[in-house]
Amino acid sequence: MLSKKIENAINKQINAELWSAYLYLSMSAYFESINLGGFANWMRVQAQEEVGHAMKFYHHVIERRGRVTVAAIAAPSVIWKSPLNAFEDAFKHEQKVTGMINDIATMAATEKDYATTDRLQWFIDEQVEEELSTDTIVQKLKMIGTNTGGLYMLDRELSQRKIK
Ligand code: FEO
Repeated sequence: MLSKKIENAINKQINAELWSAYLYLSMSAYFESINLGGFANWMRVQAQEEVGHAMKFYHHVIERRGRVTVAAIAAPSVIWKSPLNAFEDAFKHEQKVTGMINDIATMAATEKDYATTDRLQWFIDEQVEEELSTDTIVQKLKMIGTNTGGLYMLDRELSQRKIK
């Protein structure tokens, strides 16, 4: 069984993961609006991964005989100043999500909830990847600066991302 405290924290995390999906879908639409279809593709794939993260938490609550309760998903921004600005926001957001997952991990360790600790390890590893992938694109965009050829090349690269 899950404690009420952990159940509440995971329910909040389900909402945060779905909000992440909404944020990245909004970023995808922003990239479409500035004709960067490869960037838009990358963000669409990311949005789908986030729904997958929410579902992993959902199943954990159900398997531990807890109760999933869904809440309203807040509206994300719809426009950014530049591709760099959007990816900087994505990176900051992933750092925030890492902090939330770490907080649940601390809670689970304190309560000796080893099943939740075990499940969270997947998310801890995933966050390393999420921070790395968003920050790598931030760094590439900084390198590119105002070079439109470079931006075009990166757009082509990001168009290759597929759902895992
Ligand atoms: Fe589900 Fe990007 O963290």
